[in-house]
Amino acid sequence: MADKLFIFDTTLRDGEQVPGCQLNTIEKIEVARALEALGVDVIEAGFPVSSPGDFNSVRELSKAVTWPTICALTRAVEKDIEVAADALKYARKKRIHTGIGVSEYHIYNKLKSDPEEILERAVAAVKYARRFVDDVEFYAEDAGRADNAFLARVVEAVVRAGATVVNIPDTTGYCLPGEYGAKIKYLMEHADGIHKAVISTHCHNDLGMATANTLAGVLNGARQVEVTINGIGERAGNTSLEEVVMTLRCHKDIDIDTDINTQRIIEVSRMVSNLMNMPVQPNKAIVGRNAFAHSSGIHQDGVLKNRETYEIIDPKDVGLEDSAIVLTARSGRAALKHRLELLGFVPEQDELDKIYAEFLKLADKKKDIRDEDLLQLAGDTTGRGTQGKIRVKRLQVLSGTVIPAAVVVLDIGGTEFTASATGNGPVDAAVTAIKSLIDRKVIIQEFLIQAMTKGSDDVGRVHVQIHQVDTHHVVHGFAANTDVVRAAVEAFVDGLNKLMNKEE
Ligand code: KIV
Ligand code: ZN
Repeated sequence: MADKLFIFDTTLRDGEQVPGCQLNTIEKIEVARALEALGVDVIEAGFPVSSPGDFNSVRELSKAVTWPTICALTRAVEKDIEVAADALKYARKKRIHTGIGVSEYHIYNKLKSDPEEILERAVAAVKYARRFVDDVEFYAEDAGRADNAFLARVVEAVVRAGATVVNIPDTTGYCLPGEYGAKIKYLMEHADGIHKAVISTHCHNDLGMATANTLAGVLNGARQVEVTINGIGERAGNTSLEEVVMTLRCHKDIDIDTDINTQRIIEVSRMVSNLMNMPVQPNKAIVGRNAFAHSSGIHQDGVLKNRETYEIIDPKDVGLEDSAIVLTARSGRAALKHRLELLGFVPEQDELDKIYAEFLKLADKKKDIRDEDLLQLAGDTTGRGTQGKIRVKRLQVLSGTVIPAAVVVLDIGGTEFTASATGNGPVDAAVTAIKSLIDRKVIIQEFLIQAMTKGSDDVGRVHVQIHQVDTHHVVHGFAANTDVVRAAVEAFVDGLNKLMNKEE
């Protein structure tokens, strides 16, 4: 059986230190429950002495989750440890994470101290924390830039004092993978008693090497990794959970694995991104919008013949429905045909040739070819038309008033229908009006607005995930417009058209 790697998630502590990403306690509970369902072993819930809000979050999270250990951060200070222990009172499994700086920068500049005093303070903090809990993790802050011989002395001393886990953070993201791996190896070989504790990695991404360094640590003996969802965290972020977990799933030869239910990765990634207002970069490994999108003709052809030609992960394994074939001027006939078929339009070879020629002209002018454009093109080129399409003909909304309202005129299969409704905002009102015109029960499961560039004249791109209750079909609708209400309505209608196409 594969060796177990413990997942210590610090999205709600190190991740939440990102400016503008603070969550309230209710939101933290939502994330913590999602992390529990994802299968993480430890949730670092906050730094209780830092603020009453953090204290309260640690306390409430302790009540809200069952399986993961709840961990609270402290400095090597008695008061911090007492407050952390109090905040953890209701946790079924609890851990205090205490520590101190061990590099010369920290010892002499920040702490105005010397190595011997640091050793004493480290040992005293661990012993004090052990008075309150059985599970104490010690962090050797800035271990990445610390002298290995001194670090080994610290590790030996804190394990002797009762630390169950020892964290070797590359606090500044300075290390190279070989260097970080060698550091862990050195400690495994030179710190007496180290095998009584679990060694943990905690890598920052300042040089873009957090995941590589973490894996180097694991390959050299670390059995816990400290990670965040989407790699969020201070400055350039922390190691991302999804990258480490999926690397181990892909490289079965490593024979180390986690308990993560990978099919929940996308759901948790989107939840964290939405709640923290932190869009995921489109090319982010595993969870970025383009991580499973193929746009060049050669790649599309390969993927359509056999997904594994250009994909090392099955998108379903991380919770996506499928890979995406993105149509651009570089796409080939195979991709165009595939997309048309998904939209319910099956072209003959000569029709495909004609549509392809028109498609290339359009793709040269417009970088974002939407399903709507394709169906229009297919209908115009072949004279077959596209049956049953829903289009937004007119939209009028009233917002900023006591009761937001919307009037929507839709063209459904060539006939005009009008509806009006009120809602808790203009989008809600318009969506309610549209729902009253369609004969299917749908639920919006996700709604994401992203600015494409910057500025108040920006184009808003909207993504909605829609679930049809009776068929359990799930589709994604997209639209972009400078008017975000219009974009939201069009994205909803785009999703409805996709649902209709699934049934044809
Ligand atoms: O980066 C770091 O060193 C930390 C410690 C507090 C664990 O976040
Ligand atoms: Zn950190």
